[in-house]
Formats: sequence, C-alpha cells, structure tokens
Amino acid sequence: MIEQKRVLVTSVPGPASLEMARRKTAAVAAGVGTGMPVYVVEASGGILRDADGNQLIDLGSGIAVTTVGNGNPRVVEAVTEQVRQFTHTCFMVTPYDKYVAVCEKLNELTPGDHEKRSALFNSGAEAVENAVKIARHATGRPAVVAFEHGYHGRTNLTMALTSKNMPYKHRFGPFAPEVYRVPMAYPYRWPTGAENCAEEALRTVTDMIHTQVGEENCAAVVIEPIQGEGGFIVPPEGFLPGVADWCREHGILLIADEVQSGFCRTGDWFACDHEGVVPDLVTTAKGIAGGMPLAAVTGRAEVMDAVHVGGLGGTYGGNPVACAAALASIESMEQDDLAGRAREIGEVLFERLGRLDAEYDQVGEVRGRGAMVAMELVTDGGSKEPNAALAAAVARECFQRGVVTLTCGTYGNVFRFLPPLSISDELLHEAMDMLEEAVAAALA
Ligand SMILES: Cc1ncc(COP(=O)(O)O)c(C=O)c1O
Repeated sequence: MIEQKRVLVTSVPGPASLEMARRKTAAVAAGVGTGMPVYVVEASGGILRDADGNQLIDLGSGIAVTTVGNGNPRVVEAVTEQVRQFTHTCFMVTPYDKYVAVCEKLNELTPGDHEKRSALFNSGAEAVENAVKIARHATGRPAVVAFEHGYHGRTNLTMALTSKNMPYKHRFGPFAPEVYRVPMAYPYRWPTGAENCAEEALRTVTDMIHTQVGEENCAAVVIEPIQGEGGFIVPPEGFLPGVADWCREHGILLIADEVQSGFCRTGDWFACDHEGVVPDLVTTAKGIAGGMPLAAVTGRAEVMDAVHVGGLGGTYGGNPVACAAALASIESMEQDDLAGRAREIGEVLFERLGRLDAEYDQVGEVRGRGAMVAMELVTDGGSKEPNAALAAAVARECFQRGVVTLTCGTYGNVFRFLPPLSISDELLHEAMDMLEEAVAAALA
C-alpha cells in the first residue's frame, strides 16, 4: 500500500514519463489519446505513483472504475487466488461458479424485486449493444431511442447511440440504423428555465417518439440516469419516473445505462434507486470489478430469456478472474458501506465546489450526486457560454500540482470528480485546495 500522500519530486510530467510519451508516439496509434501523460507504475487507494516517483491524488478512478480503490486488499486476494486456480475456460464451453455468483448478485442488487437474469460481457459498450439486441429480440421492434448528450461507447451501434461527434464519431460513419435521438432534460440549459424542465422535456420526448418513430416500432429507450461523458447531467426529479411510466404504458423497454453511475458511485447501489425507477434492463461495467474488465446486462427474466440459446455470449465475457474481482468488489461495497461513503464524499465535494461557485462567475453550476460531482464552467453566469478553454487550463494546473482530474461535457467545459470511494477526507480536501489554486492560476 502506497502512503496516502501527495508527493512531487519532479515537475509533472517528469523525465521518465516524458521518455515513455516519446515511445508511445512511435508505437501506439495516434487515435489513442492520453489525457495526462504520466506513466503509472503503482497505485493504491486514492494515490497514483508515476515513473518519476511522483504521487498524484486520483480524482478520476480511471473513469469511474476503481470505485473500491486501486489495490483493494479483497480484490487483490481474490484475483491472486483465482489466477492460481485457472484464468479461462470460456463460460460457453465449460462453465464455472463465479460467473453464476456474479449474476446472482446483480439480480439481487439491481433495482426491482422481480425475477431477473444476467449475462456478462467485457466492456460497457458491449453491454449496451447486447441490451439493445435483447430488447429488439424480445419486443420484435427495430427502433431504439437515445438522448442528446448521451454516451454509450465506441462500437458501431454505441457510436450511433452516442450524441457527441468529436472525438467519438467523426468520420467513423455510417452508423447503425433505427436509432433516434431526443432531447435530454438538462435543467441548467433548459430554454424556459430549470423549473419547467421535467415536464416540458418529458412532453417533448414522448411527443417526438410518437410522431417520428411510433410507439409500436420502438423496442427500447436507452438512458443514463445521470449522464456521464455528456456532462454529469442530472435530470430533474420526476423526469426518469415519467419516462419509465410512459415506456411501460407502450410496451417499450427502458434500458438504464448505469455503466458510469452504478455500483455505489451516486450514494445508492444504482442511480435509478434515487427515485425508485425500475428499468427493464440495466447495463453495468466500470466500478463492478475493481479495475478488471467486466460488464453485464441484467433484466426481467422474461425479456432476457426471450433470446434463443447461443444468442448471447463471447469468448471472454465473464472471465473468471474478472468475476472474482467483481465478487470481492461487491463484498467491499457491502461490508464497508461504500454507498454511504459516496454520500459523505459528495458532501465534501459540494461544500468545497460551492465555495468556488460563490466566488467565480465562471462556475456556472455544481451538480451531481454522491461521489459523481461536476462543475460546469462558462465564460460568465449570464450568457452561460461554455468555457472549454478554462476547463482545459484548470485541468492542466491541477495536473502540475499532482492532482489527476477529468473533464467531460458535450462542449468540453465540465470538470468532473470521480474519486475512488476509498479516498480519505484528508486527501480529498488537499485535492480541493489544489483545485482552488488551479482555478485561481487559470483565471489569473
Ligand atoms: C454510460 C456509459 N455507457 C457506456 C460506456 C462505454 O463503456 P466502455 O468504455 O467500457 O465500453 C461508458 C464509458 O464511459 C459510459 O460512461
């Protein structure tokens, strides 16, 4: 376990990282970008140690993945043990119990107490693709509806579902057909004001599906209950339940993409739990397995079981090492009450970011839930003009101070915080001190 302390021994990135970056340019496809070119050699809890010996505070968890913290002892032990036993057989050839155990846990923990089934995959995108396959198969309908600002992955179908062109879709088309996009309930930018957002957005969404798609052609509505890459957009109370009710009325399946928001991140097991929304299908990945690649679709038994035998699967889906990591991660979440810890982290983040909001007109809004919190940066509070340049400058300043942060948003102007839930209050406050300095420096 690395001492949970920020330490800077060189400028960041240091010479060893810069040398690796040179090798990367010569060896790795240019399309694979690296946000912050520090090469990590070790990580635990809320600290990443780089090749130069710098210790950086991690506020990104590798994009919401290491929710239980890097080097979580339960995960390390479970993975080590599993690697010793066996690493792969392919569940579709000769199965093993940990795959079944992960599915049992998913069926128990995801929203709703109806009978469920799960299937395991490798990535979030693969889970979303499979959820759409299952929804189409079960309903016999072709169309799928997704939202503005939504992000669902980089495969052909999930690019079609994803809203933002650059960098995710640009020149990668043509995209999968029968995908329709509707407006997202985005209170901060709702034209007639946040107070009208839930009702008007719901009316617009249902009206567009009715007039442009036809309910009877629509297999599923795919939504992130809190949008991730799109800017941590939290829909107003009432919007998600409204969408869920309307879908049920029309036999349209609701797919909640909880790849980023799931597994305690928002202070509940799943973001849907906050308003008691029960989707027909839930996609999960990222935080599920402490950094091992694992993803899942969980849903109503009759929907999931509609697919013929052999219709779902993949060579690596539900790999035993990833399953062992998932079971250990879930145990940590249960035993250490990580949902409660996410709420505590949220209180610290809201309090500290609220101070910045009060001080700077360029902080347009602080929003989120639990340990999934963002600050939207604008040129000024009046125009709300997105300020991507400021977000990039603040990220750079944070980085130089040894704090790893992430930006997001359709306009690239949202600063997001996704710390591992194992981070201490002390480190979190130190990171917020650095952020305050970074904002001041970026605006100087
Ligand atoms: C909500 C959501 N869905 C799907 C994905 C795609 O996941 P992956 O990168 O594992 O394919 C992401 C990744 O950021 C995501 O945030």
